[in-house]
Amino acid sequence: MESNAAQATITHAATLLTQGKLVAFPTETVYGLGADARNEAAIAKIYAAKGRPSNNPLIVHVATVEELRCYADISSSWNPAVVNEWITKLTSLWPGPLSVILPRGKEIAPNVCAGGPTVALRIPRHPVALDLLRAFQGPVAAPSANPSMYVSPTTAQHVRDSLGDKVDLILDGGPCEVGLESTVLSLLHGIPRVVRPGAVTLDMLRHALGCPVEGPLSSGETLPSELISPGLLAKHYSPRTPVRLRTSLAHGEKLPPKTGALIFSHWQPEFTPRVTKVLSQCGDLEEVAARLFGALRELDESGLDLIVVDTCEPLGLGEAIMDRLIRASRQ
Ligand code: TXA
Ligand code: MG
Repeated sequence: MESNAAQATITHAATLLTQGKLVAFPTETVYGLGADARNEAAIAKIYAAKGRPSNNPLIVHVATVEELRCYADISSSWNPAVVNEWITKLTSLWPGPLSVILPRGKEIAPNVCAGGPTVALRIPRHPVALDLLRAFQGPVAAPSANPSMYVSPTTAQHVRDSLGDKVDLILDGGPCEVGLESTVLSLLHGIPRVVRPGAVTLDMLRHALGCPVEGPLSSGETLPSELISPGLLAKHYSPRTPVRLRTSLAHGEKLPPKTGALIFSHWQPEFTPRVTKVLSQCGDLEEVAARLFGALRELDESGLDLIVVDTCEPLGLGEAIMDRLIRASRQ
């Protein structure tokens, strides 16, 4: 009975996508705001609902590696044989929190890619996302289902709270398991390059590909122009309340009385927080990542003047966690 009802909902969601409507759906990373990636008018609705600048491209979701190859134009890539081999090797990480940037296939609407020649594609592993993609039988463009610049949603309620009236249907698949947006990997050049860190780490990519992989840029470097997109700009993922990293506080610094603390595990703040959130009793980074955005949203709704956040080593999953927190703390 329950699975029939669930199947009927998925069928309905796929029909809405076919009609050019917007469906929010769970992925293992964050909730996405989905539309048919071949339908320019439907894609325009995503940009409007999010208030997203039209020059910031979207990620396209597909159910299989065959579809991923089909919606890219690998024949026009820098070396089709090598790129095809890389994709074969990456199948060990899909379905999962990894997006790859490739030359855009002709079926993908140009506005998905902000008019550019490349497309980001991924195969999510959340069962509801996969059911939806299989039922729809086509590519679904989906940015994170939050207003532009705000914290990504990791529950259906987060989507309802900030975009509820702008979405035709919200599929509820429970809290997201990973909690941070996918790793974005460019395959546009001879050395693969991570342009956004995520739960698929540099080590995992190097191991899967068996070749060098460049990390996200340290601030001094410049990105090849085809990889520059506003989504990768310095400030992003921010609560409205100012955020500071605990490592930026001077010893004995006077903080506003209404300061909250976001603690990963064992940090004991020098100040007395008005509100405290502890993400993981045992310091498990996967748990920290999964609960991070929900906790930032809650602290943002607590009437604080400042949120001070804990930090960790920027290694493995810690690299993605610190990437999001450094961005959130930028003025
Ligand atoms: O985990 C995720 O990736 C989630 C779920 C819903 O799949 N989606 C997501 O989408 O985080 P969004 O739009 O919030 O972030 C997409 C990122 C942005 O930083 C965007 O600039 C970058 O991917 N991006 C997309 N297409 C690109 C392209 N062709 N070239 C360079 N960057 C691209
Ligand atoms: Mg986003």
